[in-house]
Amino acid sequence: MILITGGAGYIGSNSVIEFLKNGYDVVIVDNLSTGHIQIVERLKNTDFEGKIKDFFEIDLKNKNDLEKVFEKYDFEAVIHFAAASLVGESVKEPQKYYHNNVFGTLNLLDCIIKYKVKNLVFSSTAATYGNPISDLIDENHVQKPINPYGNTKLAIEYMIKDYAHAYNFNYMIFRYFNVIGANKEVITGEWHDIETHLVPNILKADEEKVFSLFGDDYDTKDGTCVRDYIDVVDLARAHRLAFEYIKNGKSDIVNLGTKDGKTVKEIFNICEKVLDKKIPLKICERREGDPAKLVANSARSKEILNWENKTPLEESIKNAYRWEQERKKL
Ligand code: UFG
Repeated sequence: MILITGGAGYIGSNSVIEFLKNGYDVVIVDNLSTGHIQIVERLKNTDFEGKIKDFFEIDLKNKNDLEKVFEKYDFEAVIHFAAASLVGESVKEPQKYYHNNVFGTLNLLDCIIKYKVKNLVFSSTAATYGNPISDLIDENHVQKPINPYGNTKLAIEYMIKDYAHAYNFNYMIFRYFNVIGANKEVITGEWHDIETHLVPNILKADEEKVFSLFGDDYDTKDGTCVRDYIDVVDLARAHRLAFEYIKNGKSDIVNLGTKDGKTVKEIFNICEKVLDKKIPLKICERREGDPAKLVANSARSKEILNWENKTPLEESIKNAYRWEQERKKL
């Protein structure tokens, strides 16, 4: 049995599918603050080999509730996605981020050691690196976050390493770069009440809601920011591979990226091509806190897990668009 926290959210729900498809049974914990009950229902109705054994609408901040889950089931692994993850919001409301992410994970770690769970996969972020000092960012790059969101994820990385060392469990810490796309069955996808991410904002744009491109005066090839985009289904696969890797008594920290950066304009152009239409665009001021370029050195994921992003950008964007149409019906 695998416990997936945040399994009603974007990346968590895609990972639920990955585990179910590979024959694992799953329990989901989600407080539904940003996840959606409709997604849980859709996941329950899938016909994959593995099954969703239970769903708990609980908050990781509530340790008593959490303990009941660990009392009821014996988990082979915890795959931990549940977190508040908006960079801008974290600057305005750090309290929410420290309580939710750091305190919530502390409760989870306490359960992991109390109930002797042997494996943990944690979703950390490229935001823990802060402003890059090298062209490609490898796992040994200095970690100096520039916002509270990144600080909370870095604090959790320390907590996991210290707990694992003292209490003896295996872990994988993944530092994701920019996640896009949806599964081809469009069971689930990106669905945020406040949408800040690039691809869904481009895909949602119309004459009334023109897409705002934040800054075209960066020191990059076309003046817009460069990011490293990976597909959510590939990302989900990495989590299963990580579990199968660490359960043999290993722990590691791995970037999930492609080492092939794309500018905002390039992504915009691919979206126009995929949708086969002109998307209304306005160039705006830079968004506060955006580094010009964030691209992973992705060698380690290949070396350790034989993982690479396989989905071409066009396909990720096509699936994201198909999901966007599906989501409107929910
Ligand atoms: N952008 C726009 N317009 C939009 C949205 C985004 O121009 O409406 C631009 C941004 O300015 C940035 C790029 O598109 O240059 C990517 O922005 P996203 O918000 O999609 O992604 P970020 O790179 O800011 O953030 C991602 C994750 C965060 C994580 C961060 C770490 O979503 O959770 O990477 O680097 F913290």
